[in-house]
Amino acid sequence: MKKFLLTSIVVATTACTLSAASFAACAGCHGAKAEKKALGKSQIIAGWDVAKTEKALKGYKDGSYGGAMKMVMKGQVAKLSDADIKDLAQQISKMK
Ligand code: HEC
Repeated sequence: MKKFLLTSIVVATTACTLSAASFAACAGCHGAKAEKKALGKSQIIAGWDVAKTEKALKGYKDGSYGGAMKMVMKGQVAKLSDADIKDLAQQISKMK
C-alpha cells in the first residue's frame, strides 16, 4: 500500500510538469526566442506584455483578433487552455 501511494505521488508530479505549455511548439515559426516574424508575416512577439499576448491568443481562439494569416494561429491555440495561454504569455514576455 505504501509503495502504491508513493507511485501515485510520483505520477501526479510528473503529469503536473508536463501540463505546462511549452513554447517549443511555437518556435518552429516564431523562432526559439520569439525573435522572428512567423512565416515572414507576424509581428515579432519577443518581450510582448503578458496582457497583450493573452489578448492576441484568446482573440485567435474566438476569432476577434488577427490579420491575413489568422487561420494559422487559430489552429495553434485551439487546444490551449486559458492557463496554457497565460503560461506561454509569461514565457514570451521574458524573451528578448
Ligand atoms: C505554423 C506557424 C506558426 C506556429 C507554429 C505558431 N505561430 Fe503564432 N503566428 C503565426 C503567423 C503566420 C502569425 C500572424 C497571423 C495573423 O495574420 O494574424 C502569428 C501570430 C502570432 C501572434 C500575434 C502576433 C501578431 O502579428 O499580431 C502571437 C502572440 C503568436 N503568434 C503566438 C504564438 C504562440 C504562443 C504559438 C505556440 C502555441 C504560435 N504562435 C505558433 C505562425 C505561427
